[in-house]
This record gives sequence, C-alpha cells and structure tokens, in this order.
Amino acid sequence: MAADPFSAEFPQDPHAGWAALRRAGPVHRFLVGGEPIWYVTRWEEARQVLADPTLTKVQPTRGDSDFDAAMLFVDPPDHTRLRRLVASAFTARRTEGLRPRIHRIADDLLDAVHGRDEVDLIDAFAFPLPIQVICELLGVPAEDRDSFRIWSNALTSPTALDARTAGQRMREYVTALIAHKRRRPTDDLLGALLAEADDGDRLSDRELTAMVFLLLVAGHETTVNLIANGVYVLCTRPELRDRLAADPALLPSAVEEFLRYESPVATSTYRRTTRPTRIGGVTVPAGEQVMVSLLSANRDSALASDPDGVDLSRRAQHLAFGHGMHYCLGAPLARLEGQVALGTLLERHPKLTLATRDLTWRGGLLIRGLTRLPVRL
Ligand code: HEM
Repeated sequence: MAADPFSAEFPQDPHAGWAALRRAGPVHRFLVGGEPIWYVTRWEEARQVLADPTLTKVQPTRGDSDFDAAMLFVDPPDHTRLRRLVASAFTARRTEGLRPRIHRIADDLLDAVHGRDEVDLIDAFAFPLPIQVICELLGVPAEDRDSFRIWSNALTSPTALDARTAGQRMREYVTALIAHKRRRPTDDLLGALLAEADDGDRLSDRELTAMVFLLLVAGHETTVNLIANGVYVLCTRPELRDRLAADPALLPSAVEEFLRYESPVATSTYRRTTRPTRIGGVTVPAGEQVMVSLLSANRDSALASDPDGVDLSRRAQHLAFGHGMHYCLGAPLARLEGQVALGTLLERHPKLTLATRDLTWRGGLLIRGLTRLPVRL
C-alpha cells in the first residue's frame, strides 16, 4: 500500500511510510490543496536538489509574513548579504565560547526539578534550554523569555494561541525591542545587527525584524527535538544509554547519529523550479514546488549501512542541517547544545527511563518531535 504522507497517522510512524516511498522511487508528486508538490525521498537526489542554485526560495505569492525577508526565504544576492551579516556570530569558534554558559543553563534547569520523580523532559529541559541560549545571544531580556516561548511554540504548532495572533504579538514585541535597543545600544547580537541597519543600506528594518524572527524560531523549535529525540532513543535502548553515560567522549558522534536517525527538521523548506528540472529521472516542470524529506534521505541505505539501526560511534553523515547555500547557520550551536544537554543530563541522571510508552509525535511533516516526554530521573 502506498504511504500517504498527508494522512493523520503518517507522523506517528513516518519511517515506514518514507521507506515505502523511497523503494517506489526517488521523487513523488502529490496534490496538496490542488497544487502539485514534489517530494524527494532519496539521499542522492536530496543532495542534488538542495545544492541546485536554479531552484528558488522566493514564493510567488509573497504575503506580509514576518519571515519573507529572512535569509532562508530569499535567493542571492540578498541571501549572501543577509547571511554574511550574522555568519561570524555562529562560527564553531565563537560558539564554543558559549559552552560553560550552556552547561550552567542545563544545570539550573535540572536543579529546578531536583527531587521530582517524574518530569516532562521537553517542558522542563529540552524546550527552555535552547530558548535561553538564543535569547541570551540575541539580547532578549530574561523577563520576556516566557512570552517568547508561548508565541514561538504557537507559530510552529498552534496550541492555545493561534499562529496569526502569536505572529502578531511577537512582531509587536520585536518591533518594541528594536526601538528600545536603538535608544540604549547593547553589545549583543541584536545590538550588532542594529548598528549594521543604521549604518548605510546593508539591512532594512523589515529584514532586521525577519532576521530576529528566524533566529529565534530556528534557534529553538529545532534544537528542542534534537535533545528530546536523543533522550527518547536512549531511553528506548538502555544499553546505549549506559554506554553513553559511561563514555562521554562518544557525545559528538552520538549527536550526529541522533540527527541522522530522528532528524528534528524532517522536511526542508520549499524550493521552486525556475525551469524544467530533471530529478531522479523525472522532469519536474518549471514553477513547481519541490520539498526534500530529510528524514527519509537520512535513512537511505545509499548513505549508511544498517540505516535503521543506531550506532553511537559511527561517523554519521546526514542532511539534518540541509545542504548547499542554505545549510543551517546554527549547526555548530545546535551540536554544542545537544552535546552539553545530553552530557549534563546523563552525568546527573545516568539511569533515566521513560515514565510511559504512551507517546505522541507532533503532526505534520515539518518537525520530527514528541509532544511530551515524561521520564523518571
Ligand atoms: C537553516 C536544521 C538549529 C539557524 C536550516 C536548514 C535546516 C536546519 C534543515 C535548511 C532548511 C532548508 O534548506 O530548507 C536545523 C536543525 C537544528 C537547527 C536540525 C537543531 C538541531 C539552528 C540554530 C540556529 C539555526 C540553533 C540559530 C540560532 C538557522 C538559519 C538557517 C537555518 C538562520 C537559514 C540559513 C540560510 O538560509 O542560509 N536549519 N537547524 N538553526 N538554520 Fe537551522
């Protein structure tokens, strides 16, 4: 039976579904709301599509979305200019300097649940940790971080607040924050970006707001699931948990393996062909949407032997951070957060276990992550 990625059940067991589609072919055409969208399922074609500069990120129907002017949704030369403005803040070297601070944040979060038998690890740890890191980096005041968490969660998985209201509130907040920082300059990343915006024409106000939005959302809706999916894999395979707890030197390769095995960003963002494009033996007409299933490409046997197995010491290759010019800017930070978070957790709670097997994966194809992760520490 052909898997339907748009069915409600699909996200609960996407690997089986993608495996069936991968076997059937490297690219599949679906009609979504009457519009054709091509999904790429295999490793080789996924790399080809992500690296193809003739595919555009610019959507034909640009609305007034807060993200439209962000680097992830524009082509060169705007992309090159915007990415260059912040690239230096996210290098592996600059990021490494944050290690002690991230360790401290992890310790504080675990102190806060000390003595409690059962906790939702997402709520108590995996979610707040990356938010605190990115807010500190940008210079978002500590007292505002809780509101941020609510809005940005609603943007990617509507809950209590609908996405539109959340987007509106967050835009008002970011606009007010920028105005405040203009009056009182600070030496955080937002301060540096403001200096760029105010010095010539390198960054418009609209682009500045979009940049802050993108960094805030990309910086934590993803990392939360790297941490939580990692914990989930470890708790469901206690022999791996024990091995990693006993040998923290495995943390860097373990994090790469978790990124490959349960890729937090399950599907790339949209790309559109600008001319007829051959993908895996099929010609995709000009002007059609192409999506890459990173979750699927990372389980392709062309990429790894035993792709459905977990090997903490393999040097896992993967597309979890994308590929080509839009390769994840925050990859060094995400890796560091993953290593420090999982390392600190296992050091303090080497025997943590799942408190229930009754777990639900988030809906949709974009994010691979659990809704809750109750554990016993
Ligand atoms: C782009 C994944 C964490 C900032 C991307 C893309 C992927 C990705 C797949 C490319 C999307 C595409 O080409 O369609 C991840 C994962 C993360 C993570 C799995 C955590 C485990 C972060 C963090 C930050 C960040 C911590 C920054 C604070 C960005 C930015 C882009 C991006 C700015 C756009 C880059 C560009 O367009 O040139 N990320 N990301 N990400 N990510 Fe991440």
